[in-house]
Amino acid sequence: MPRTLITSAIPYINGIKHLGNLIGSQLPADLHARYLRARGHEVMFICATDEHGTPAELAAAKAGKPVADYCAEMWQVQKDLADGFRLSFDHFGRSSSAQNHRLTQHFAARLDAAGLIEERSSRQVYSNADGRFLPDRYIEGICPNCGFEDARGDQCDNCTKQLDPTDLIEPRSTISGSTDLEVRETKHLYLKQSQLKDRLDAWIDSQDGWPVLTTSIAKKWLHDGDGLQDRGITRDLDWGIPVQKGDEPWPGMEGKVFYVWFDAPIEYIAGTAEWADANGGDWERWWRTDKGAEDVRYVQFMGKDNVPFHTLSFPATLLGSGEPWKTVDYLKSFNYLNYDGGQFSTSRGRGVFMDQALDILPADYWRWWLLSHVPESSDTEFTWENFQASVNKDLADVLGNFVSRVTKFCRAKFGEVVPEGGTWGAPEAALIETLTTRLAAYERHMDAIEIRKAAQELRAIWVAGNEYLQEAAPWTVHKTDPQQAAAQIRLALNLIRLYAVLSQPFIPDASAAMLAAMDTQDDSWPEGIEAALNVLPAGHGFAVPEVLFAKITDDQREEWAARFAGTRS
Ligand code: 2FM
Ligand code: ZN
Repeated sequence: MPRTLITSAIPYINGIKHLGNLIGSQLPADLHARYLRARGHEVMFICATDEHGTPAELAAAKAGKPVADYCAEMWQVQKDLADGFRLSFDHFGRSSSAQNHRLTQHFAARLDAAGLIEERSSRQVYSNADGRFLPDRYIEGICPNCGFEDARGDQCDNCTKQLDPTDLIEPRSTISGSTDLEVRETKHLYLKQSQLKDRLDAWIDSQDGWPVLTTSIAKKWLHDGDGLQDRGITRDLDWGIPVQKGDEPWPGMEGKVFYVWFDAPIEYIAGTAEWADANGGDWERWWRTDKGAEDVRYVQFMGKDNVPFHTLSFPATLLGSGEPWKTVDYLKSFNYLNYDGGQFSTSRGRGVFMDQALDILPADYWRWWLLSHVPESSDTEFTWENFQASVNKDLADVLGNFVSRVTKFCRAKFGEVVPEGGTWGAPEAALIETLTTRLAAYERHMDAIEIRKAAQELRAIWVAGNEYLQEAAPWTVHKTDPQQAAAQIRLALNLIRLYAVLSQPFIPDASAAMLAAMDTQDDSWPEGIEAALNVLPAGHGFAVPEVLFAKITDDQREEWAARFAGTRS
């Protein structure tokens, strides 16, 4: 059985994610996991919350909670929303887990033993009022270049000049507003990525058929400017994974933690270990090529901003360790989804967030729109008009209407059983041929993770059924030749089951409702169309399902457009 390891970029713990975040990694990863499971692969699908770093600390402080409590609560919130969207993770972990502490400290020790870690001193801004070192973006002041009053410690947003916090005039802490700041000497560990440049370059060159978006970003970071930079992997923070060499203390690093971007990708491995601890499984056969993972295909999903960390930093950790860790085989990256003429904005509450989306419509409506409009080759935009049109046409008119017409007509004329009699002829043979070609294309696109093309093909498969029904016109045929109408409807009822199977990766709830209505648990992937259209025999009972997809009205569309324009507090 082929084995596929799938990871989605792990969402930051602070706050509920918007639909742009969802379609940027977790949802497409889920599509792939569902599809491969349906095709008989053994799949391990891992996601988690990314819990460390200053934003998590500040969000906890704002919520008035200890950071550990805040993270535990927000993990549950994110887990429930993931369940609501039917994200089929084998495990939804936490980067603050004991397993991640252990593995992160292990990798640091290995990298150190390989001579790839260096201690460097730097001068950093310390806030006496806040009792902490301040990351550059938490310091603001007057830009020495243009006089802008709210320039950040890393960059002036007004004149775009790159800044050092010590360049700012009248610097202040954005956490407390305090100006009682001083520059202190502090020591940090650096991962000497520059020494791994050639290995990383060769490793990227050896990858087959990666998306251009992925390789172009990786190559840019390897070769532009001064090339691949060494990277600070520790921070002066309280919350995080303590800097240790494996189980041993790291002299001089007391009180420091690893940088969030060092431990976050290691959580993919740790999350699998969490899964194993909870389920009694073996995680190493997914991750260690000396322990069975050599025949695993590993696919990662992420937004384009995450690509440098996954093509360079994380591989540097894995390769630099000198141990036989599994590295990514295919890295699917995405552009951004924009919202109605601008950007989604978490701070301004602009756009639809995961909780709000599920409050107004079931998951499948969102899954279908997001996946069929996924920003694969360029940034794309969510508009309410487009969402309404897509739901009403694709889901309600094409798929939902097919299911409703066929089941209701059958109930009225033959009762709630698959009718007997008649034979299939040229129109049925033509449909089988069309569907055979389309199914092959659908599988090709799904295998290649070409999601938009796959969605188009699935829609075309739904359309083919409608066109057949329209031409066969069993409601007319029934008047003169009920046997022939029975044969047509028998095919159409079987088509509903087939649609349930093929649509499951995109719209799992509707798919389950279709299977339940057809009173079958046979969700096996078709070996051939003709055989698949004979699964439900004459005499098999079914039920007319509830309306699968309700149309979105103009009033709803207008109300939602106004509601999500940017007022969330
Ligand atoms: O961009 C983000 O949302 C990050 N939290 C992704 C981390 S992915 C990985 F490194 F685990
Ligand atoms: Zn400026």
